Amino acid sequence: MIVIGIETSCDETAAAVVSGEGEILSNVVLSQFEQHRPFGGVVPEVAARAHLEFVDGIVRDAMDQAGKTFDDLDAVAATGGPGLIGGVIVGVMTAKAIALAKNLPFVAVNHLEGHALTARLTNKVAFPYLLLLVSGGHSQLLIVRGVGAYTRLGTTIDDAVGEAFDKSAKILGLDYPGGPAVEAAAKLGDATRFDLPRPMRGRPGCHFSFSGLKAAVKRTVDALPPGDLSDQDVYDMAASFQAAAADVIAERTRKAIAAFKNQCPDGTTLVVAGGVAANETLRATLEQVAASEDMTLAAPPLKLCTDNAAMIAWAGIERFKLGQTDDLTFAPRPRWPLDPSAPSATGAGVKA
Ligand code: KG4
Ligand code: ZN
Repeated sequence: MIVIGIETSCDETAAAVVSGEGEILSNVVLSQFEQHRPFGGVVPEVAARAHLEFVDGIVRDAMDQAGKTFDDLDAVAATGGPGLIGGVIVGVMTAKAIALAKNLPFVAVNHLEGHALTARLTNKVAFPYLLLLVSGGHSQLLIVRGVGAYTRLGTTIDDAVGEAFDKSAKILGLDYPGGPAVEAAAKLGDATRFDLPRPMRGRPGCHFSFSGLKAAVKRTVDALPPGDLSDQDVYDMAASFQAAAADVIAERTRKAIAAFKNQCPDGTTLVVAGGVAANETLRATLEQVAASEDMTLAAPPLKLCTDNAAMIAWAGIERFKLGQTDDLTFAPRPRWPLDPSAPSATGAGVKA
């Protein structure tokens, strides 16, 4: 079985060809950093136009690098949501066009399910497992019981952790995208210099909150003596922020592990996914958490943690194997929760 996946839900235009056995035949990712850098964040309209300009070439590159033609394909998968709707429409229309022209089944993949199932592609992890999904748009703890079967234990009541990395980077004058820049700066800093809050730590449940942490970074920076922030100030603040984020994620994850063991006594794996899972400090922290709870940590390789289309092709394969395809009337979805039954989490006047 050979499936192409297409990903266009945020600021990466990506296409990949993956086999039914999980061999990645090609994995092409074009990041739109240059287009969004002047704005310090992703601009939806700019992203949609860039996807439209590049998607055909990226699909062609993915097919060429895999050494396949459209006639070799068994199905076409594309991110159907959630995400920036202009971009999602571009990817879905491209996939539908290939499916229609070649009379192939089409699978609309939930982007979050792509992240959620990546560890089955890379680490052959069996169901059920506990998933920590940490990206620019999401911070969630979910029990993954099977394809399409998720129980959400926790989510963020305000910002996502990746968003907090990106916004803190902006406050510190670091490069865009912020996550890798904060991590690089933190390597040179003292994580104990600034005493930042640990939002939600010790609270019941498994929800996250990150906007207070970002606000504390801003307050602390503003309180430093007037004048330019020194490089060392920036490094120390980046390290202190990263330590605070890792601390709260560790504590929330421990609580989720307890709930997971309760519901799935046979489960032994903690999977971390999403762009922030590329962070080495977070990975090391989660290794410790997993080891102390008798769990195994499965973390996909870095380039499969951030947005890519191999994860979309693979989630498409998992669904296709179960006979779950979509027809060409599928409408792109700006919102698409993995666990629609989960009650909305409310924070300080915020609904998530
Ligand atoms: O999963 P992803 O590629 O896109 C979304 O679906 O959101 O995640 C992107 C997020 C961004 O917020 C980025 O700053 C963050 O992941 N990120 C990192 C690192 N690499 C990417 N955050 C912390 N440390 C990193 N090394
Ligand atoms: Zn993502």
